Amino acid sequence: MRASAGEVLPYLPVTGAMLDLGCGPGHLTSWYARESPGATITGCDRESAFIAMATSPATRLGIENVTYVTADVTKGMPAGPFELIVSTQSVADADAESVVAQYGGDDSPQHDPSGSDDGPRVRTLRMIAGALGKCGTYLAIEPLPAADDMQRFVSEATGAGLILSFLGFTPFDVFGQPHAYPVAVFRRRDDVEEECIGAGTTLPVVDVDRAYLQAVIDHLPHLRRDHATGDVGQVVVAHRKSTSMPD
Ligand SMILES: C[S@@+](CC[C@H](N)C(=O)[O-])C[C@H]1O[C@@H](n2cnc3c(N)ncnc32)[C@H](O)[C@@H]1O
Repeated sequence: MRASAGEVLPYLPVTGAMLDLGCGPGHLTSWYARESPGATITGCDRESAFIAMATSPATRLGIENVTYVTADVTKGMPAGPFELIVSTQSVADADAESVVAQYGGDDSPQHDPSGSDDGPRVRTLRMIAGALGKCGTYLAIEPLPAADDMQRFVSEATGAGLILSFLGFTPFDVFGQPHAYPVAVFRRRDDVEEECIGAGTTLPVVDVDRAYLQAVIDHLPHLRRDHATGDVGQVVVAHRKSTSMPD
């Protein structure tokens, strides 16, 4: 948790609006609100029990610029425009959940019986793109352990109107074992295109395979030998984060 909070910090709006998708019990969301008192922060999670914890006086600590809503982001999300949208482990696995729902005969809007459904993940990415304001940023801190997983996510995001502008990895330790978690920075395609036309450049392309290999080189020394062959397709770097609060 501390690791991902550090990644979000530089992107926090000073006065604009931010949406924290999959905010859990709101510890980080409230921390963002405290770090950026001029911004308006919204946290949302599909678990009402988490939202109840997030809105409790113990978590809110009198912080005024944060609100919380219960919402399943595959079905709908708070209305924008947002300068920053952050998702932590709430978007990448959306398709897996819909399969479970279909096997269970679920008749929720997640499953479109007409067959024209793009899938909850694609739909969610489209909603995220639509909820971003001009020059807005979407930070995806999602369990995408291999370069191939990230490639698929990026290609779906591109179809939804987003462009990957940076891919970094945040290192963290679990019981002394080093791990790294991918942090993907997306921007609205319209904004990037406008900037490129202005600067006379082409759309930036992030080399995802290279970034995963670099994550191994930088953060995962115990995996280096296995990947000396350059087989970056099987690099596994993402694991669950620790749950301690940020300093
Ligand atoms: C790993 S927790 C992250 C909590 C918090 N953001 C953090 O970093 O500590 C992921 C959260 O995403 C929520 N989540 C997963 N899928 C979701 C969805 N489709 N809509 C809304 N929330 C979702 C889960 O309920 C869970 O609270």
